[in-house]
Amino acid sequence: MDLSYILNELGEERGQYYNAVSPPVMQSSNFAFNTVADMRNAMGNEFDATLYSRGQNPTLNILRKKLAALDGAEDALLFSSGIAAISTSVISLVKQGDHVVCVENPYSWTDKLFRQLLPKFGVTSTFVTGTSIDDFTNAVKPNTRLIYLESPNTFTYELQDLKAVAKFAKAHGIITIIDNSYCTPLFQQPIESGIDLVAQSATKYIGGHSDVMAGVVTGSRELIRQIFEHEFMNLGPALSPHSAWLLLRGLRTLQLRLQRSFESTRIITTWLAEHDGIETVLWPFSSSFPQAKLAHEQMQGCGGLFSIALKNSSYAKIEAFCNGLQHMLIAVSWGGHESLVVPAIASIPPEKYDADNERHQYIRVYIGLEDPQYLIDDIQQALKKVKLSETVYS
Ligand SMILES: Cc1ncc(COP(=O)(O)O)c(C=O)c1O
Repeated sequence: MDLSYILNELGEERGQYYNAVSPPVMQSSNFAFNTVADMRNAMGNEFDATLYSRGQNPTLNILRKKLAALDGAEDALLFSSGIAAISTSVISLVKQGDHVVCVENPYSWTDKLFRQLLPKFGVTSTFVTGTSIDDFTNAVKPNTRLIYLESPNTFTYELQDLKAVAKFAKAHGIITIIDNSYCTPLFQQPIESGIDLVAQSATKYIGGHSDVMAGVVTGSRELIRQIFEHEFMNLGPALSPHSAWLLLRGLRTLQLRLQRSFESTRIITTWLAEHDGIETVLWPFSSSFPQAKLAHEQMQGCGGLFSIALKNSSYAKIEAFCNGLQHMLIAVSWGGHESLVVPAIASIPPEKYDADNERHQYIRVYIGLEDPQYLIDDIQQALKKVKLSETVYS
């Protein structure tokens, strides 16, 4: 399906709402029926009916069609956050006694789902680096039900070979699910590679303006229906109609924003790699990235998140750099218009900082929509402040 058609037309039945170009926010929790028979039909198949907005809602249904089509999936389910999409789907797929193989460094709350929440219900997990297919073949057990992927992750960017993992999982009757937030469907198509379910934090690039929380899972109609009819309706993580409308608006410019973020990141990472104050630049499309070949094979473009380490890094230098930025923000999240940084030390107290652990040195950078030169100038002046601080802290 044509990308322009999906973003601009699919699912929009304008004749039903005065030919308005922007779809209405159907701000109603409840929907009435003309007859008891109509109500009975809806109650018998809530997955396809407009009955109550904890299930389906007309504004959400426009978005549902677009997000499913973007992933090349049969259907989609929308959630009030990315982690709700991930947790609800995973919980729906496993039961007591099941085993999961999960990549080692997923998003932090996904990590807690597998390490803390699921063990309470008798579901165990094995964590694997995931950069080699052998990691998966060695970790599966007779009771492995699910393989959880995140490719690339959003701190050290390890990739999994999606086609190889999907082929292996299918041969063993194991379901695969991936967090595709980093790439979005525009830069990576996991379903085409054979992955069963694709989750995204729509809070990031889909929303794109740092003003809405949302999540989505896409996949076969059968799996999406299973998640909907059981855990989704029980846990109640529905997205609000107004949030759905903000996402529909975000989608109009997704291609432009993603391309801008990608191109600016290429310019900035190239500049950083040559800067004498920078030790490491980790970005999947950098030629120095260990899995650059796989990244170029399975991704059509690259997200605007990357990590850097300063030369002769230290706790004080990392703080001096981040505090020295005048335009880029110190903030979590990403995918919005605004560029920002998150240093690993934001979650490491000084006494726990290990100078020999490269992960402790990383500063995660997100490049948004500003002019790349404007951002380079900001980084440049912050690096100068680090150099000045060297004399103070040495
Ligand atoms: C890679 C990734 N997946 C999932 C999430 C969770 O999404 P949300 O914050 O929308 O719940 C995040 C949030 O930062 C993320 O970065």
